[in-house]
Amino acid sequence: MSLFLALFALSGIFLETVRGTLEMMQFENFIAQFNKTYASKEEFHRRFAIFQKNLEEAKRLQREERGTAQYGITKFSDLTDEEFLRCRPDHRAYFESQTLLRQVTEENAPVKTCDWRKKGVISVPKNQGPSCLSCYAFAAVGNIEAQWGIWGSPKNLSVQQLVDCSKCGCQGGYTWNAFMTVIKIGGLTNEKNYKYTGKKSTCKTNLKPEATIQDFVILQRNETVICSHVSYKGTVTVAINQTLLKQYQKGVIDPHPEKCDNNVDHAVLIVGFSREKKYWILKNSWGNDWGENGFFRLRLGSNACGIAEYPASAIVNTGTFKRHICPP
Ligand SMILES: *[C@@H]1O[C@H](CO)[C@@H](O)[C@H](O)[C@H]1NC(C)=O
Ligand SMILES: *[C@@H]1O[C@H](CO)[C@@H](O)[C@H](O)[C@H]1NC(C)=O
Ligand SMILES: *[C@@H]1O[C@H](CO)[C@@H](O)[C@H](O)[C@H]1NC(C)=O
Ligand SMILES: *[C@@H]1O[C@H](CO)[C@@H](O)[C@H](O)[C@H]1NC(C)=O
Repeated sequence: MSLFLALFALSGIFLETVRGTLEMMQFENFIAQFNKTYASKEEFHRRFAIFQKNLEEAKRLQREERGTAQYGITKFSDLTDEEFLRCRPDHRAYFESQTLLRQVTEENAPVKTCDWRKKGVISVPKNQGPSCLSCYAFAAVGNIEAQWGIWGSPKNLSVQQLVDCSKCGCQGGYTWNAFMTVIKIGGLTNEKNYKYTGKKSTCKTNLKPEATIQDFVILQRNETVICSHVSYKGTVTVAINQTLLKQYQKGVIDPHPEKCDNNVDHAVLIVGFSREKKYWILKNSWGNDWGENGFFRLRLGSNACGIAEYPASAIVNTGTFKRHICPP
């Protein structure tokens, strides 16, 4: 009997060792794939332990997933949740600015499928980097670029100018703070004139503005209204709960409401949707080596991860009043 128990215990240790070895191999692949370097042996082991925890977390998310999303190793797999923090909302700013906001509706029924990327007005997803909570600035600039692309001509605009000139800086914020800043400073300059550094520094406004905005709108908290707006008016910035995105690889995220609630902490840009297949297409600011070439898809119709909470868009008035419909 005791021999049996001893064998049983040994086989348990054996399985643990096999699992550890497998995970070490995955970790070594991860290091090669994402070109990671660690300063010391201790750091290597600390990162390996975090990596193992993240693998566990990804497995849990996979078990709980109801859509087609796949979770697993991403370039963030060696970071703790605290280190991963890429954005922070500022709820106060919302309530402070609420008096300025007017909600708009859209009368026309939405198209079935829409993808503004097919019109060539969505720039490649950029990387906000690890040390600046600037998601709001990337989402707002992506929106202004796309709105100009649709109603005027394509633009590459400076995110850094927005970070430097906005009160929010690298502290996180909402996109309407960004829109108000753009109006205040008289437009944004070209990206080439004012490159992204990922650190807040002095606001420069003596550069030639490349694009201005006239105003911005806050949409109703209603996904049908947002769909209609995206169909005929262009991209929409939204705030979401980012909890599932760290481990996200691809597919449509369809979270159980309890697994991703409507307490939002990240700003991204809606660039399209499919009403038939019930998903939104969103542009993130974590580089194009994350997710689906920098984009991700999220279930449409259930306020998944709070997507309908704070929809907004800049208004550009380029003098052309032609009607534009989103390409399918
Ligand atoms: C990998 O990292 C090293 C050191 O940080 C850097 O010099 C090199 O350019 C990187 N290579 C790639 C392909 O990113
Ligand atoms: C924006 O930048 C991209 C990548 O550098 C470039 O391919 C594109 O032509 C630029 N667009 C404009 C309108 O300058
Ligand atoms: C959302 O808006 C649509 C279109 O205006 C409307 O038919 C629907 O009742 C609204 N839904 C809610 C929950 O208000
Ligand atoms: C996001 O949703 C999860 C699950 O409901 C929740 O635990 C988490 O606190 C939410 N995030 C924020 C920033 O509140």
